Amino acid sequence: MRTPLLDVKDLGVEYRSGWRSSPTKAVDDVSLTVGHGEIVGLVGESGSGKSTVGRAILGLTAPARGTIHLGGQDITNRHAADRRDLSTGLQVVFQDPYASLNPACTIGRTLGEPLEVHGKLSAADARTRIEELLTRVGLPADAIDRYPSAFSGGQRQRIAIARAISSDPALVICDEPTSALDVITQARMLDLMSDLSRERGTAMLFIAHNLAVVAAIAQRVVVLYRGRIMETGTTQDVLCRPLHPYTQALIASSPVADPLRQRKRRAARKQADPVAGSEGRAGATPQGCPFAPRCPHATSTCRIQRPAVTLVDGRTVACHLFTADNPTPEGANA
Ligand SMILES: Nc1ncnc2c1ncn2[C@@H]1O[C@H](COP(=O)(O)OP(=O)(O)O)[C@@H](O)[C@H]1O
Ligand SMILES: [Mg+2]
Repeated sequence: MRTPLLDVKDLGVEYRSGWRSSPTKAVDDVSLTVGHGEIVGLVGESGSGKSTVGRAILGLTAPARGTIHLGGQDITNRHAADRRDLSTGLQVVFQDPYASLNPACTIGRTLGEPLEVHGKLSAADARTRIEELLTRVGLPADAIDRYPSAFSGGQRQRIAIARAISSDPALVICDEPTSALDVITQARMLDLMSDLSRERGTAMLFIAHNLAVVAAIAQRVVVLYRGRIMETGTTQDVLCRPLHPYTQALIASSPVADPLRQRKRRAARKQADPVAGSEGRAGATPQGCPFAPRCPHATSTCRIQRPAVTLVDGRTVACHLFTADNPTPEGANA
């Protein structure tokens, strides 16, 4: 089997809010891989640690534990600037298209920077290359001489995408790149990113809180809750046949347009997640399953013992309902 492009093993990241306080685990024992040219979705509610995983891969946050390999090289302790110089190439698209572009630079300059760093293109060749990129992401070639203020949020995100792919990176970390956009712009952006990934063989770790967004673009999905991986599998498996009670609750809480379906789902949601929204961790211990206090299937074991990651039909699930001997428990997947 070919080594994965990105291999994150047992990643742990801690934050300390005051310097006397004990650190809190934002990411705990996270292992995931992204294959060459693959789009992997990292999904979970706000605060589950998605951005922290992305930041650790980019070298913007130092991990407390674990290793990160990119293209076979150990980059765990490499400086952020170094990582973008790797032969395998690592780029990022952030959520906020307003904050991520320098308002004082023309689009040409913004897109020219990575080209100057990575290639030895002449000014004329760089200009042609930038115009091609702009056209490819759906912007007029004359955008090159304009400033970010001349563009809408969706257009700016196209520019950010053009900048990310201009140096032909092997992997792009996309942290909620469409979350600030309206639904139609969001759908167009997802199509564009999906096409670009296919055309250029660019792999993506696509971070989003919205399952529908991830489903539209990712081939595989990793579900995160309170810094821990609950379930991983193909998008089809995880969305159509979720195993983990948390994934089931997450799917039941995704908004749907149809009011009748919405009512049915609200009932399902109540059943799947009786105390949804309660932040209470009553009954949970740090050693237990983080979802135990909200889980309708939780037993005393769930509160005190961390569930092992179990392989079920080529997917992984971290839940006491699933063990290697008992991969399909009664009632868990109703
Ligand atoms: N710089 C920071 N300092 C302290 N705590 C942080 C910091 N960044 C994130 N956190 C905490 O870490 C957890 C995970 O945050 P984050 O990775 O941003 O989640 P997500 O991207 O899934 O919303 C949250 O509880 C958040 O409050
Ligand atoms: Mg985030």
